[in-house]
Amino acid sequence: MIRTIATKPFPDQKPGTSGLRKKVPVFQQPGYLETYIQAIFDSLEDFAGKTLVLGGDGRFFNREAIQIVVKIAAANGFGRIVIGKGGILSTPAASALIRHLGAFGGIILSASHNPGGPEGDFGVKYNIGAGGPAPEKITDAIFARTEEIDAYEISDAADVDIDRLGAVKVEQTTVEIVDPVTQYLGLMKTLFDFDAIQALFASGFRIRFDGMHAVTGPYAHAIFEGELGAGAGSVVNGAPLPDFGGHHPDPNPIYAKDLYDLMMSAGAPDFGAASDGDGDRNMIVGRNIYVTPSDSLAILAANARLAPGYAKGLAGVARSMPTSAAADRVAAHLGIRAYETPTGWKFFGNLLDAGLATFCGEESFGTGSNHIREKDGIWAVLYWLNILAHRRMSVIDLVREHWATYGRNYYTRHDYDEIDLNAAEGLMDNLRALTVTLAGKTFGADKVEAADDFAYHDPVDGSHSDHQGIRVMFEGGSRIVYRLSGTGTVGATLRVYIERYVPPSGNLDQDTQAALGDLIALSRELAAIEARTGRRAPSVIT
Ligand code: G1P
Ligand code: ZN
Repeated sequence: MIRTIATKPFPDQKPGTSGLRKKVPVFQQPGYLETYIQAIFDSLEDFAGKTLVLGGDGRFFNREAIQIVVKIAAANGFGRIVIGKGGILSTPAASALIRHLGAFGGIILSASHNPGGPEGDFGVKYNIGAGGPAPEKITDAIFARTEEIDAYEISDAADVDIDRLGAVKVEQTTVEIVDPVTQYLGLMKTLFDFDAIQALFASGFRIRFDGMHAVTGPYAHAIFEGELGAGAGSVVNGAPLPDFGGHHPDPNPIYAKDLYDLMMSAGAPDFGAASDGDGDRNMIVGRNIYVTPSDSLAILAANARLAPGYAKGLAGVARSMPTSAAADRVAAHLGIRAYETPTGWKFFGNLLDAGLATFCGEESFGTGSNHIREKDGIWAVLYWLNILAHRRMSVIDLVREHWATYGRNYYTRHDYDEIDLNAAEGLMDNLRALTVTLAGKTFGADKVEAADDFAYHDPVDGSHSDHQGIRVMFEGGSRIVYRLSGTGTVGATLRVYIERYVPPSGNLDQDTQAALGDLIALSRELAAIEARTGRRAPSVIT
């Protein structure tokens, strides 16, 4: 039976960069998740009888949340709900499944790379039929609805057994439990040369993939060890755990330190990679070389012809504004368009739908293509393996060859976590005011060419997004960028992105933090970071 339950608006249901993210206890408040899910459905039209894809990254509260969403979706009249077995779907696999099924949309339960567990984070994201995160028009409508909602509809049916493949009925809705890997693997086979990668492994090539106890474990075991013949044990931390083993499931040199250290040691395998909580991020490390996500995007673009799915060439490459300009140089070389979008994968959707861009990337360990509408961690790893299978050279030699051709964009990101919200906003306001005075000024060897508060005009739908980060751009291609995180759950996180371009004739072999030393000092001074936040040093450097 369908029941209508009275509710009231919760004051904090404004979706951020990637949906609604809150601490688990916030989501556990009576009616909190129910109200938000109903607000999503209230903001959508004409989904009666249509398909909803549903899955999550397996974090704490995932299984309970799946049952709630099923009962509300059934009560609201979806015709079919397709769920990954165990409630598991990586974000990229969910995007692929939405597109494959021609679904109306999907709900992904994840807080991505944020820690999980009873006191950790949880999140809910709505994706549209194209497979990507809902555009701002929809997230704004959802938020507006959360401010006035007064009831939700829910079925009182028993819980669905999400661990058994097959279909059952909840009210009039068919609920189907599917294997989370099968369809995704099929898609990967259309893009990459699996035979060549199998031959690479057969020749003795060794990898380590760190699943970080998050959602990619099952995918990695099935694809790398199963299909491709990487030896057993190539995948570590491959069992998804509700608290990710107590770690940050964020693939970067800090949180994937074991992998990073192994790759820098004498016993390193040929290739290392890790993915995040929900499987959309990736970190690539070769023996004795860490590949920045910005460089990875550029290298994938430069070698696109080696992968069967992209052999016809690329339409364009898009990167988020704070991502280094390394990919722009490849685009210029290939004679294709380079796009610069605000932070957040949702801004790539229109460019991909319109066929303007084929590859997209963010400095935050996100890379992907037009195969889906999310970034894709396993995809990036397969792509690298595909390149290495054809080039038969080490990661370090491949990266050095790239720099020698295009030059090197030294790049780092400094995060100041959990700072006071007012202090952070004051710092940004101050920088915004400063931008108008900076052009033409010289700091050490660097002269400011331009400074602004980045605004994006979407070339496809004409929408406009202001206040997307402060850019200080120097002659010769160096930059300092400041923005506040839209995914944090406590206080504010200030992100400072620092980049210096060195042409092929310059010194390409410096330590990154040293190469950027003067710009790093300037980044602190310009924003008066210590005076305004009390922080002398960043909490995380990537
Ligand atoms: C962060 C990253 C951004 C990414 C988002 C979702 O957002 O910086 O590139 O799209 O997570 O994975 P932020 O916290 O900076 O708003
Ligand atoms: Zn993620």
